Order: sequence, then structure tokens, then C-alpha cells
Amino acid sequence: MTDWQAHERANRAGAALATTESGETYLYFDTAAAAPPVVAAVEAATDYLWKTARTGPYLPSLRAEIYAQLDEIRARVAAFMGAKPAELAFTRNGTESISLVARGLRFEPGDEIIVPDTEMLSNIAIWRMVANETGAKIVTVEGGTSGLLTPEAIAAAITDRTRLITFAAMSNVTGAVQPVTEICELAAARGVLTHVNAAQALGMMPVGLDVWPCDFISACTRKGLRAIEGSGVLAVRERHLAEMTPMLAGWWNASFDDAGEVVFPETARRFEAGSPNIPAILALGAAVDTAHGLGIGRIHDRVRELTTYAAAKLRELDGAQIYGPADDADRLGILPFNIAGVDPAKLTLALEARGIIIEAGHFMATPILAAFGVERMARVSLHYFNTTEEIDRLIAAIESERGTNA
Ligand SMILES: Cc1ncc(COP(=O)(O)O)c(C=O)c1O
Repeated sequence: MTDWQAHERANRAGAALATTESGETYLYFDTAAAAPPVVAAVEAATDYLWKTARTGPYLPSLRAEIYAQLDEIRARVAAFMGAKPAELAFTRNGTESISLVARGLRFEPGDEIIVPDTEMLSNIAIWRMVANETGAKIVTVEGGTSGLLTPEAIAAAITDRTRLITFAAMSNVTGAVQPVTEICELAAARGVLTHVNAAQALGMMPVGLDVWPCDFISACTRKGLRAIEGSGVLAVRERHLAEMTPMLAGWWNASFDDAGEVVFPETARRFEAGSPNIPAILALGAAVDTAHGLGIGRIHDRVRELTTYAAAKLRELDGAQIYGPADDADRLGILPFNIAGVDPAKLTLALEARGIIIEAGHFMATPILAAFGVERMARVSLHYFNTTEEIDRLIAAIESERGTNA
């Protein structure tokens, strides 16, 4: 059995944990935005940065050592995502990963791209741009108030012109965990490509080309995976690599062939242009090692238990409405809610003053909020480092803030 608190104590031993003015440790419930990075990730990035400050970054021996490390990290991250090293690209963030897929494929006028209404801005904007530029058409599928997509609804939206379906494995707003495998299987059977946005899912549940029969996986690494900001990943099935256009080009991904023509490797490195974000990639390696060490299955089970506990506690609050799937088994780690008569933005600020971090807003997912008829929600998002005691302290704080009309 994993002793999660012991793990977290050891993890944070090197970090002077922030406390409030009254001396209480901050409680962090906003992993869906970004988790506190694991200390090993911060150390990997800062160690490198200090080395560059002391010796300069371009010592031939340091460069050789670091580039060798990047190759090793690519192999480890790829293995974590059931991919070959050649199928894995380092990106600057999840939005870049999604854009690399959208801009890497060639769409024809009349092609259809399915973008369900469960999606957040980063998985909408680029597809709309590409559709406008190419004459492709965006087709919407509704997740409804549960935020859950059904394979039937996706199947009904597929036509002879459907090229691709893009959807998040797990919603950043409702926490709804989608039937990814079923959707990818039915799409593949109809010759339709699938792009899965694993922004919240990576590091929180099993994610990978070996887990889902999809074509592309994009993810942020500062959320469930607990790496640092400024990194993301993209996994592309090998069979698509050669036909995809690199959105960005320059040194690191391009080279001249014997005839002086610019060429790109037939690996996912074709998507990485210019100087790599070395501190962030080193941090990513450490974060993957930590998640791998804990075991992604155990992390998933732990977050599921905490989700059920927190949902039950939130429901006990008078006037509370939790949005998204009715059955807690259909969501993971994310609980959006409102309490009658309480402004979620004010509640969030009042909780921060008590050292308890949640988030409030529209989460850049206006279509989902429209389905619920609200403009803003509060959102609690959990990770394995949270505890039932922390959730109790959160609930007690919400109760007491309600008394002061937050
Ligand atoms: C569902 C979803 N997709 C994509 C992204 C984009 O990720 P990044 O911030 O790494 O660009 C986010 C980030 O908040 C997200 O919540």
C-alpha cells in the first residue's frame, strides 16, 4: 500500500511549504489548472539552470550530456505513454500539441471535423481556424448536462466526409471521463482519425497509444503529471508522421539534404523547432519517473477514492449543486459546483485568505456552462497528494464562508 502522505512529505521535504499568516499550510485544490510540481522536477530544472549560470550553457561536454539526457527522457516519456520514442514530441504546452495536429494534417473543402461541445478553448480555436482556412466544416456533438459523450452520439455524427474527431479524455470543467476506447474504435472502423486531448488525464489515469486506439494524443504536463510550467507532449502514431506538415521549422527539426533542400526527420521530432525548453524537459523526465514509481493505476484509484469522498461532502452542503456526471464513477478529480446565494468568485477569494486554493470562472468552456445555464462555477480539483482531512477542512471553510455571505 502506498502511504500517500509519507510520499508527499518526502516529496516536499526540499520545499519550504507555504503557510498562511495564521500558520496553516496551504491546501491546494486546483490541479486541473496546474499542480504543485514534484520537487524532483523543480530540482532537475534548477540544477540545470544553475549549471548554465556557473559555466555557461554551451560547453561542448555539457551540451553532449544534456542532449543525451533529452534522448533518454524522450524514451522514458514515450514508454509511459505506450509510444515509441520516434512517436513522441516535446512541446511548450498542451495548446501547442493540439495545434501541431490541427496544422499538421491537410483538410479539404467539405471535410468534417467533429468537435463536441464538451471542449475547452484550446481544443476549439485552432480547429475553427483550420476549418475557416480550408473550407472544412466543424460538426458539434452535445455532451449535455452530464458532460459525457456517448459512442452512439459520435457514431450518429459521422458521415462519409468525417476526417477527424477531437475530444478531451477528461473534461477540465465537469471531470467527465469519456469512453475514449469505444469512440476511437468506432471512428477507426469508419476510417476517421481520432485526436485525444489528455490535458488533465496524463498523470491521473492510464493514458497512451497502447491504452487507446487513437491516432494522436496531446497533453499538458503541469497538471496531473506535476512537471513544471512550459512543457507539453504530443504522441503521433508512426504511420502518420511522414505525411504531416511541421507547423514550425528551423534548426533542431530541419536540415539540408545533399541537394540543399530543407528536409525533416520522419519522427515526431519533426514537430520540434528551435532551441528545446531544456529545463522543462528535464523536469518532465523527473515527473514521469515519480508518477511511474507511484504507479499510474494506484494514482488513479487514489484520486477516484478522494473524488467520491469530496463529492459526497459537497453534496451535504445546503443549496449545493454539483455539475457534470450524476454518477461519481463517471468523473475523476474534478468537481464543479455552485452554492445557492454564494458568488463563486468571492468564495474563491475568501478561501484563499484562509490558505485554501480552489478556482472559479467559466474555464474557457462557455458551451458547457451554457448547457447548465450558468456563467460561473467554483471548481475543486484533486490529486493524490490531497487527503480526506484536507477535504474536511475545505468543506468546513465553505460552510463558514457561506455564513458570512461570500
Ligand atoms: C482541457 C484543456 N485542454 C488544453 C489545455 C491547454 O493546455 P496548456 O495550458 O498546456 O496550453 C488546457 C489547459 O488549461 C485544458 O484545460
